[in-house]
Amino acid sequence: MPIQYFAEQQLFLITTHNTAYAFCHNKEQDLVHVYWGEKLPYPEDYHIFPLRVLSSFNSSSHELLAEYPDRSGIQNNEPCLRATFAEGTRDVRLRYATHQIEGEELTLHLKEQFYGLEVVLRYRVFADCDMLARRVELTNSGESPITLEQVLSGALPLPFDRDNFRLTHLSGAWAVETQLDRPLITPGRKVLEGRLNYSGHAANPFFALDALDAEGQGATETRGEVWFGVVQWSGNWKIVIEQSRSPYKVTRVAAGLNDYDFGWQLEPQTRFESPWLALGYSNAGFGQMSRNLHRYEINHVLPKAFAADLRPVLYNSWEAVLFNVTETAQMELAEKAAQIGSEVFVIDDGWFGQRHNDRAGLGDWYVNSQKFPNGLKPLIDKVNALGMIFGIWVEPEMVNPDSDLYRAHPDWAYHFPNREPITGRNQLILNLCREDVQEWLFEWLDKLLSENNVGYVKWDYNRGMSEPGWPEAPQAQQREIWVRHIQAFYKLVDRLRGNHPGVLFEACSGGGGRADLGALSHFDHVWTSDNTDPLDRLPIQLGYSLVHSPKTMYCWVTDTDWNSQYKYDLRYRFHSSFMGSLGIGSNLNDFSPEELAEATKYVAEYKTIRPLIQHGLFYRLTPLSETTSLAAEYLAEDKRAGVVLAFNHRPHFWQIPRRLRLQGLAPDAIYSLRGDIVEGEPTSLSGQALMQRGITPKFTRHFGSALIQLSKNE
Ligand code: DGJ
Repeated sequence: MPIQYFAEQQLFLITTHNTAYAFCHNKEQDLVHVYWGEKLPYPEDYHIFPLRVLSSFNSSSHELLAEYPDRSGIQNNEPCLRATFAEGTRDVRLRYATHQIEGEELTLHLKEQFYGLEVVLRYRVFADCDMLARRVELTNSGESPITLEQVLSGALPLPFDRDNFRLTHLSGAWAVETQLDRPLITPGRKVLEGRLNYSGHAANPFFALDALDAEGQGATETRGEVWFGVVQWSGNWKIVIEQSRSPYKVTRVAAGLNDYDFGWQLEPQTRFESPWLALGYSNAGFGQMSRNLHRYEINHVLPKAFAADLRPVLYNSWEAVLFNVTETAQMELAEKAAQIGSEVFVIDDGWFGQRHNDRAGLGDWYVNSQKFPNGLKPLIDKVNALGMIFGIWVEPEMVNPDSDLYRAHPDWAYHFPNREPITGRNQLILNLCREDVQEWLFEWLDKLLSENNVGYVKWDYNRGMSEPGWPEAPQAQQREIWVRHIQAFYKLVDRLRGNHPGVLFEACSGGGGRADLGALSHFDHVWTSDNTDPLDRLPIQLGYSLVHSPKTMYCWVTDTDWNSQYKYDLRYRFHSSFMGSLGIGSNLNDFSPEELAEATKYVAEYKTIRPLIQHGLFYRLTPLSETTSLAAEYLAEDKRAGVVLAFNHRPHFWQIPRRLRLQGLAPDAIYSLRGDIVEGEPTSLSGQALMQRGITPKFTRHFGSALIQLSKNE
């Protein structure tokens, strides 16, 4: 039973295969967190430690360890819920009332002490991946509106017997997404957040905490305890990690919607839901954390339609031709794309309106007749005849001021009266809170997908918010736009998916600005980064792998070398892109027949290892902080086959490539190895030997790569 309630102790116990999460309600009906960590043998093990209040200046234990901190009492901690009631009361006092347990879901009902605010805390258990997800649902059962000012999905005190916590998080910028950061937690607050109306390049809505031992050692890829979580939201989010100094050095995390410029008028008899906060604990390091998150993403987050399917090899023409998409050039590229083995052909930006650069045309979603005199049909027919799915780029939530749409409906973009709107990439954001905008968007997108044989949509979003104003709406609703926009965005995608169930949807935001589990519960995968330099991609892709599965990450092979002093060979480019779902963005018209033949060989090779890459268990074989040589292993669930991708950069002196100790293999089984292994090493070894002694990959050059396949001898 994944969820139990022990009436005598008033204890809720949630267990997965390896973990446990416990909290209780005390006699005052406060919810007090008890435990989150490795599963313990007996229910009695989950007793609450009595915390002593040493002086009237210290918080009481229920305040220190609150399962869902409200804004009441004398506390210095981040509350999950802040609200103002009709009389101006800005104090929320929640008390446990009742609960239900239904299979893998726990519903707790809390009531505000005086006002008609009903609060539901909902927990879902995912035993197969040692994870749970929780959120809060708020209903106004009173007669006056309530203004919500902060709604976090949940808070978690970490075990206070360990106090040297280290935070692992992902930060970045455009073209430098998902970079690893590892600060130590000290008393005070550390806030990770997105506040531009998209989850953002700057930070990813994810945290992981591990504790340093007496020797200063924290968790590694394979060892140690890690507590982690992800806010499943594509809009403004916030994760607060805070530590108090005394009397108990409690470290806690609170996470959910960002309260930055947020407000929500909760009218009587209406409901508000927070995003889900997914949580997990691993006692086998960061590698296990990632594998649990990958399984969670594939089994429980991705839209069901394609969750279990392999992602196709795609060709995208963006980097080859930018906005110069014409029927002839696209057809020429489509032929080459099919020749090398692509399964989807995606026409990117520039096919519509007067879109010849990024200064005009967004919002005018008619086919540009200079570029496509006969509409899209001839190109789509050609792509289909070549055996490929046709894919198309759209950026529905945006408008260029230089567009017919904006000239007709300037009020459709977010704006403040008496303010000149600031553009980003020469564009403004459409106000998706407006129902007329929502309907207009649905109609043209639905028409595009109904009238054309489109099997793939790349949905872009290329700027952060400024002037978040909706002048037609009442004052009280102005700060709702952040949440309303994302709700409308999700609803729009879901409606389209409902009408076009065979279409794959890719989320993109100037590269990886929408690489979050919120987007991934409506989209099938994401575009990871506009940086397609194969060397730069490696840390971006490995950083992405901390949270997300390889299959949700498209990786293109292009001609771009951002570090122009290096020249990578085609093999290295492909191997770098083999790390997730494979895409090609090179200008194939510039490829020689030999290069086309070589590319064909790599695409065919990728298809043979694709089930392992996309559905295998993923192991980082080198630390994330490593830069000169990086490696990852993809292993079948039944451990019968695997593939290793390794990369070697300019070694110092005469350094030989590092030996790679593999992970997760069946120890007694004998594995046959083939591929890039240095001469003289055995090509058949036990799983134990491969894990203990490892193998040495063979690199033929600086900036070289190696691909090694292993199969278990039966
Ligand atoms: C940003 C995306 O990340 C690129 O792949 C491309 O689609 C451009 N937008 C098009 O404007």
